Amino acid sequence: MFTELSKLSFKGTFGREYVWQTAKKPNCLLAGTILGSQVLRVRLLRSSRLDNTRYQLADGGAGTLPYHSWIVAKGDEQWHETGQLEEAIVRSILEPYLQGWAIAPDALRLTRPLASEERVFGLGERTGTMNKRGQAFPIWNIDPHKGHGPRTVTMYTSIPFYLGLTLNDGRAHGVLLDHTGRVDVDMGNSNGSAASMTVQGDSLIAYFFTGPTPADVLKQYTELTGRMPMPPRWSMGHHQCRWSYLSQKQIHQIATRMRERNHPCDAIWLDIDYTDEYRNFTWNTSTFPDPEQMISELHAQGMHLVTIIDPGTKIDKHYAVYQQGIEHDYFCRFQNGELFTGTVWPGACVFPDYSQSRVRDWWGNLYQPLLQQGVDAMWNDMNEPAVTNLLVHDEPTAETKTNTMSDDVLHQAGREQPTGIDGPPTLHKFYHNAYGMEMARATYEGLLHLRPDSRPFVLTRSGTAGVQRYAALWTGDNTSQWADILMAMPMCMNIGMSGVAFVGVDIGGFWGASNGELLVRFAQLGALMPFCRNHNAMGNPDQEPWSFGEPFESAYRSAIETRYRLMPYLYTLFHEAASSGAPIMRPLYYHYPQDEQAGGVEDAFLVGESLLSAPIYEQGATSRSVYLPAGIWFDYWTGDEYPGGGWNTFTAPLERWPLFIRANSILPSGPVMQFVDQYPTEPLTLTCHMATDGLATYTLYEDDGNSLAYQQGASARTDISCRVLKDFVTVEIEEHFDNYRPSREEYEVIVHTGGRTLQKKVQAGQGKMVIRL
Ligand code: GLC
Repeated sequence: MFTELSKLSFKGTFGREYVWQTAKKPNCLLAGTILGSQVLRVRLLRSSRLDNTRYQLADGGAGTLPYHSWIVAKGDEQWHETGQLEEAIVRSILEPYLQGWAIAPDALRLTRPLASEERVFGLGERTGTMNKRGQAFPIWNIDPHKGHGPRTVTMYTSIPFYLGLTLNDGRAHGVLLDHTGRVDVDMGNSNGSAASMTVQGDSLIAYFFTGPTPADVLKQYTELTGRMPMPPRWSMGHHQCRWSYLSQKQIHQIATRMRERNHPCDAIWLDIDYTDEYRNFTWNTSTFPDPEQMISELHAQGMHLVTIIDPGTKIDKHYAVYQQGIEHDYFCRFQNGELFTGTVWPGACVFPDYSQSRVRDWWGNLYQPLLQQGVDAMWNDMNEPAVTNLLVHDEPTAETKTNTMSDDVLHQAGREQPTGIDGPPTLHKFYHNAYGMEMARATYEGLLHLRPDSRPFVLTRSGTAGVQRYAALWTGDNTSQWADILMAMPMCMNIGMSGVAFVGVDIGGFWGASNGELLVRFAQLGALMPFCRNHNAMGNPDQEPWSFGEPFESAYRSAIETRYRLMPYLYTLFHEAASSGAPIMRPLYYHYPQDEQAGGVEDAFLVGESLLSAPIYEQGATSRSVYLPAGIWFDYWTGDEYPGGGWNTFTAPLERWPLFIRANSILPSGPVMQFVDQYPTEPLTLTCHMATDGLATYTLYEDDGNSLAYQQGASARTDISCRVLKDFVTVEIEEHFDNYRPSREEYEVIVHTGGRTLQKKVQAGQGKMVIRL
């Protein structure tokens, strides 16, 4: 039974916090504060005393919070002061957020009103409709049953953050619970006009982001939880994976085939079978006798190699990683001190306790031999953590907790030093959703430490709010079926709206047999998703780009070539995500928040502001209907113009899918390459799609694509504008190359307007250019 907190009396200010207490039992406190000007925090404590133990911030020494957090990346001190607001004003800003808090003997709940027009987005990786209003589900990471689908209640990565959007006025706001245990979310399911989030324990911490646009909410949310650092450019290319390529010889064949058959590809991935009986950080030396040689050959072909590492560590007293972990007490234990064990690929395993920085440091350093051999990046899987002897085979229920670590494992975190950087020891039940993220963090920080001059690239399956600081995410084990192309779109858009911009799905589908048509349509979906990797489970027919012959092979190639042409545009979007938290793959409402129809579109997405991609997701379909928001749109393939503000049917022969360019936009592109850094982008083509009497502006972002020098400002910006006024067409280019000089001879400027195409080439490097066409 929950008791609503009422009759709060103001107790005073403590540091930055304004504290209220309940007048009668149970005694609780609500402490609120304003961070920056658009972020508020309120925490409910089941206590009559303010817990003012001040731990250091999870991500390092800089900054402190009034408690320990895995999710939050920024200490209170790092928010610039909002000025000296008078106490009465701060109290009046916070007071509306003091309503809706309730307490039960072992749980705490926050309930927020849902406006009649409000839709609910975000909430991490979830199947089903994009708008979560009317649904109830747990926030609890699991490895779902094989063949997850719309009814699956929870997946590998859950994020206790939602964005509410009222479509009638286009206003957005956000709510985050800073909680890594289970959160029971009810978005207007039991009470149509209220959203509630319930946690167990003695403290409930919520952040509120005031918007008012979806972009503002993302900016505010990622200012708190962190943003994706720029990944290496090659990670934005097309990747080829398989469970599993089984030998060095096979890797060589796949890479060579990619090149011979002109399928652009930047990386080949090694799944679990490269190891010695699934022992992490080892090789099966009979099938991979000379990894260094294999990798140097790949590098010579412009390919990278990514290897998988799972947390499950084989119990084997002759295995060095196990020995070290036992010797130094690095593995997870129950409260009574017993080791937690579970079965994964290697058989019986123990699991590193990534809550401790000493364990993360150890794990991070274990990557050294792989890096020395030339491996470029890491893939962390099964890190919910999944324990396969407990895998769920039935449709999981809302109660599903089964196939993972036990609730009563005690993560040691700061151990004897709870006020140190790791915080106090925590039961798995309160830490669970952070396990995968902290594994990815150990990997990311390890790679950064071992190769301080290169940008790490880590792919993770599990994570929670803040995982974007360490890794990209893919949506796990989908199925080779049409429904999964459709399912991918709302899922990945919501992940992007939960702060994780670098996201993708297994192209071709993981479980089951793909076929030529399905593979092509999957590739057309993946071609413009942030992460673009073909992956397939063991035992299925092959699904590499050439596997089904013509016309499928050519259609696959041409989808991926489109991605490579647009790489300058995508790269700039990655930078935007890294600097402002904006998703790369965006729901239509992101740019059209007041458009009711756009708000309901789940089967198409924007790539940045200028491209709208509407993949085909029905067998045999050669056309589909697409909603184009207000304005004029150009067909990417034909250049035909269409008025927006309604639905239209567009043709989509196998080698194409409906793809549109917003009028009054500038799209940078380059020639097709076989890997992203094959040549400098030469010429850089700037295609302006213009309405008559229109103005377009764009800033292209470039840097060296691999080092961290961009963080010191080593980047180039090129401002471009295009103005069309009756018959006068002017393009201006202004280069800002002081800190980084892209190697470029020429710009090719193309302007489409009023049925005409104008074109001119201009020499690069002149600083500022005014071009009349
Ligand atoms: C998990 C992963 C999948 C991988 C397999 C074997 O099912 O999600 O991508 O291929 O494990 O490692």
